[in-house]
Amino acid sequence: MGKLIKKEDAYYPDKEFKKRAWVKDNSIYKKANRDPIKFWDELARELHWFRKWKKTFKHEPPYFHWFTGGKINISYNCLERNLEKRRNKVALIWEPEPKNERERVFTYYDLYRQVNKFANSLKEMGVNKGDVVGIYMPMIPESLIAMLACARIGAIHTVVFSAFSPKALNIRLNQTNAKILITADGYYRKGKEMNLKANADKGSKGTKVKKVVTVRRTNSKIKKKKGDCYWDEVIEKQKDYCKPAEMNAEDTLFILFTSGSTGKPKGVMHACGGYTVQAYWTAKLIFDLCDNDIFWSTADIGWITGHTYSCYGPLLNGTTFVLYEGVPDYPETDRWCHIIEKYGVTTFYTAPTAIRMFEKEVGKVKENLKTLQLIASVGEPINEEAWKWFFKQVGKGNCPVLDTWWQTETGGILITSLPGVGPFKPTFAGMPFPGVQTDILDNKGKKVKANQKGNLVILPPFSPGMLRGVYKNPKKYKKTYFGEYGDKVYFTEDIAYKDKKGLVRIVGRADDVIKVAGHRISTGEMENIIDSNNKVAECAVVGIPHKIKGETPVVFVVLNPKKKATEKDILKLITEGIGKIAKPQKIFFVKDLPKTRSGKIMRRILRKFFTGEDLGDLSTLANPQTVDEIKKKIKK
Ligand code: WT7
Repeated sequence: MGKLIKKEDAYYPDKEFKKRAWVKDNSIYKKANRDPIKFWDELARELHWFRKWKKTFKHEPPYFHWFTGGKINISYNCLERNLEKRRNKVALIWEPEPKNERERVFTYYDLYRQVNKFANSLKEMGVNKGDVVGIYMPMIPESLIAMLACARIGAIHTVVFSAFSPKALNIRLNQTNAKILITADGYYRKGKEMNLKANADKGSKGTKVKKVVTVRRTNSKIKKKKGDCYWDEVIEKQKDYCKPAEMNAEDTLFILFTSGSTGKPKGVMHACGGYTVQAYWTAKLIFDLCDNDIFWSTADIGWITGHTYSCYGPLLNGTTFVLYEGVPDYPETDRWCHIIEKYGVTTFYTAPTAIRMFEKEVGKVKENLKTLQLIASVGEPINEEAWKWFFKQVGKGNCPVLDTWWQTETGGILITSLPGVGPFKPTFAGMPFPGVQTDILDNKGKKVKANQKGNLVILPPFSPGMLRGVYKNPKKYKKTYFGEYGDKVYFTEDIAYKDKKGLVRIVGRADDVIKVAGHRISTGEMENIIDSNNKVAECAVVGIPHKIKGETPVVFVVLNPKKKATEKDILKLITEGIGKIAKPQKIFFVKDLPKTRSGKIMRRILRKFFTGEDLGDLSTLANPQTVDEIKKKIKK
């Protein structure tokens, strides 16, 4: 294994390191930037297509298309494409949370058969190409099998994070009109048995769901409604082969809901062709996947990282990867170290919030974790202390830290230094992926200078894996992503700057989205949920800094005259509306909220109470006296 060389404020891979890497020098950037469309065109050829595309890139602002005319199936590329060379190679190792249970191991051939069988089951249930199937499942192998089976027959999967509340599930099922929902009886989390089927039932009430398929995981008793069935019962009698649907490159592969500034979550749509190309190539070049690797991404399949790097990316590359059911610090704080040692993990992908938690709980890592070669982070900006701890204690100073920037909307990683090239500079995501053109603009659309903050944008030809729309909401697509700088510039809603060498550092969001333990939560959506209660006159939600979670929500509520409510009531609204992940750190009942003369709530001021920043000029407020009142409340 290679070593890292420190030059000034960053690390670079040495010769040994480059030897193993797919990309060894800068030439790939030069080549890709000369003609990004041709670059992706060449990459796409390495995958299996039933029919080659006619046009590589087509721009119809604000929409764009990749590989039109091409026919592809991602499940074929994940399974058949690997069968010849890797038939009996382990694809997936599943680690259950309870330590007295054994792991389950699937070879590529095992997975192939399971996916085919379940694809046939779906067909038997009447699922057709283009239908939407809901997946509300924990971190178990069947979740991945379900996703791949949908993809195999051309059904569109929409995965809903298992910790989301029934109401959150309900909104997503109703937006997509899913007729089938796949779930599990339960799962284990922190030693507790979670009853998922009960939530699935509550969430599918009042939707078009007519059949719920349940995987037996905890073997707990469930209520069986009309039309419900068990996974093992339907899959058992199915044939081992189901012909893969030949999908148009631009057909929708999946919809994944994510939070934006306002109101309801958006259904981000990803396309069969471009997404496959991007998932394959980013996983390969960024994680340097080769046949000896054991890859572990801790991301839940309910999020995009789980889709692309806990499922599709490693499978497309024929990699052996780990899927872990539970929380990484249960039952011991260093459970995650034991998993790395147990399976000899070479590549570990996790989030800053987990890294900070590990640092706090474990401090000095006793295990030598000597199999690790690459370690990576995603989801929110990683602070310098966490970066350095991760680098020294987990990577033992020998593994590059890849800080990977991307979004639900981008489908795959867009900014990170490549392992064989570097540099790895603490808190900097690094270089855009070859062929990806980014810029940092001021509010007028002018490029900012090095070290100056601005809005991070992505320029044509964007990248093949980026979203193709917002489900049933073209207006929102245009306004959110192509509304800031015209319909040819994708606005990421992130603030960033570049250093002199062009390395990108992400500062944070430009909108009302906060990152709570890596989860993307809209303060606007939380406000809507609280406001919808008739006791509440108005409210404001802001994200404040938190040592482990990065950010955490704080809620300010103004009640209607003569109405009473407790913190518990507000908490209930939020956990029922979204889930426990949005649980506020604090709820304050106040008489009034600071507002401008035009009536705009000044959330910035509310936030500053907690950051210790200067409150600034308050004279423009319509009601400056509220500031003191709130200050006193918080102090108490
Ligand atoms: C937002 C997207 C797709 C990965 C999982 C999150 C923030 C993501 C980084 C990073 C700084 C990051 C951005 C982005 N973010 N990765 N490496 N450094 N910020 O996907 O839930 O759609 O959130 O997460 O603000 O816009 P997501």
